[in-house]
Amino acid sequence: MLKNLSHLGILASGSGSNMEAIAHAIGNQAINAQIRVVIYNNPDAKVKERAKRLGIPAILVNHRDYPTREDLDRAIIQTLNAYQVDLVIMAGWMRVVTQVLIDAFSDRILNIHPSLLPSFRGTHAIDQALNYGVKIAGCTVHIVSLEVDSGKILEQAAVPILANDTVTSLQQRIQVQEHLIYPKAIANFLDQVS
Ligand code: GRF
Repeated sequence: MLKNLSHLGILASGSGSNMEAIAHAIGNQAINAQIRVVIYNNPDAKVKERAKRLGIPAILVNHRDYPTREDLDRAIIQTLNAYQVDLVIMAGWMRVVTQVLIDAFSDRILNIHPSLLPSFRGTHAIDQALNYGVKIAGCTVHIVSLEVDSGKILEQAAVPILANDTVTSLQQRIQVQEHLIYPKAIANFLDQVS
């Protein structure tokens, strides 16, 4: 059972704009939680600087140091436990998680994906949406299950595709929506489980 003030652990591989949006929502009291730790796997990830600026501990757990995905997940669990995390937020985490992490935080791992799931799972969701010619793209927050980019959907936002859209322009508009729906999904999720 989650406590009133939830302890979030953020897993991020890249820029960390979603992490920052969640931190702002916490600052505005839209989410009753605290980000205890940011775990990143790429030494140069921009999320590290953002976390520092926000005064959040940022810990490098470099996947290159672990022979298997399970070993990486065990190191992540150790760090999450050290910071007493009770809800894991994947925010641009570009590693496939294993049953080891899912078992340790059963139904307590959330992810955001830049498509209207179940369409366009995987790492190139925005390119795929453009290539396919769909007229409406978007983003999805869901509970993480073993199959990549699947699991119960918590929140979605639609983003119309414009005639002259590129991957970059569409991604920018999708991110605007991500920064709205991720904090909202976390707040609602915590309301339901606590
Ligand atoms: C987001 O667009 C998310 O949908 C995808 O990775 C991106 C992370 O962006 N999974 P950021 O690091 O939060 O800026």
